[in-house]
Amino acid sequence: MENAAQLENWNGPGALEWVRFQKQIDRAVEQFHGFGLESMAAKSGERIIDIGCGSGRATLDLAEAVGSQGQVLGLDFSEPLLALARERCAHLDCVSFQHGDAGQARPESGFDALFSRFGVMFFKRPAASFANLRKTLRPGGRLTFICWQGKAQNAWIHEPMDRLIPFLPEAPEPLEPNAPGAFGLADPDFTRSQLIEAGFQDIEIESKHGSMVFSTDGVSSAVEFNMRLSPAMGLAQGLPPETLLAIRKSFAQLFERYSQGPVVALPASAWLITARNHG
Ligand SMILES: C[S@@+](CC[C@H](N)C(=O)[O-])C[C@H]1O[C@@H](n2cnc3c(N)ncnc32)[C@H](O)[C@@H]1O
Repeated sequence: MENAAQLENWNGPGALEWVRFQKQIDRAVEQFHGFGLESMAAKSGERIIDIGCGSGRATLDLAEAVGSQGQVLGLDFSEPLLALARERCAHLDCVSFQHGDAGQARPESGFDALFSRFGVMFFKRPAASFANLRKTLRPGGRLTFICWQGKAQNAWIHEPMDRLIPFLPEAPEPLEPNAPGAFGLADPDFTRSQLIEAGFQDIEIESKHGSMVFSTDGVSSAVEFNMRLSPAMGLAQGLPPETLLAIRKSFAQLFERYSQGPVVALPASAWLITARNHG
């Protein structure tokens, strides 16, 4: 399979945490969800693929926009997340799901649009995967997705990471540039080049700033959310309980600084990317 390493990640214990924290995740990225869907401007009767649909939050909103005359296909290779998405969308006849690697899957063609909320940064060969996806679009069909900017522009990841590093036995290896992962499309020049190679045209890349809302009920929920879900915590596996407790305390101090009443929100920046298939 084209993206076998990520397939394993998204079907492992981390995916179960994503299922468990689905409500908090949807709330955390709600602002960026809005930026993506507003730009997509899905219309009644359209046929749209939600790439890397995960637990189906965007799929639900796309389905509402296209209505019963339209169609939304959620494409993902995470069994646990797809199971939740199927459950959440069970009442909608216009929604279906396909289990598959977006880099290789071949849904039918003739779709009006491809959408993704943080689901396209994990491709090993982005140009090849986007080229595969482009074949599902009708001529004139559009692509809209939202992906993270670099870590430096995202305090929600780099500040907890800075707190974590002193507790690790060794400093983490720096990531290869453009490596598949949450920040795989952080470099807009790289992303543009991949989309051009994939055959897309009219590429536009817009910077969007907002907040990652870690909690709406106080600092301790924000700490729990990060201990379970932060990409940084992958580095802390195997640390003894007393070290994990010290990390919790350090996160709590950090999140106090970012709390306003019960809300804990850290600055976040994403790219909103649109393109067209004229092929
Ligand atoms: C960060 S999550 C986002 C999920 C969802 N769009 C959301 O916003 O809640 C990334 C999703 O992309 C999926 N994914 C990553 N690479 C994929 C691939 N090559 N093919 C299919 N799904 C993929 C993962 O399984 C996961 O559900």
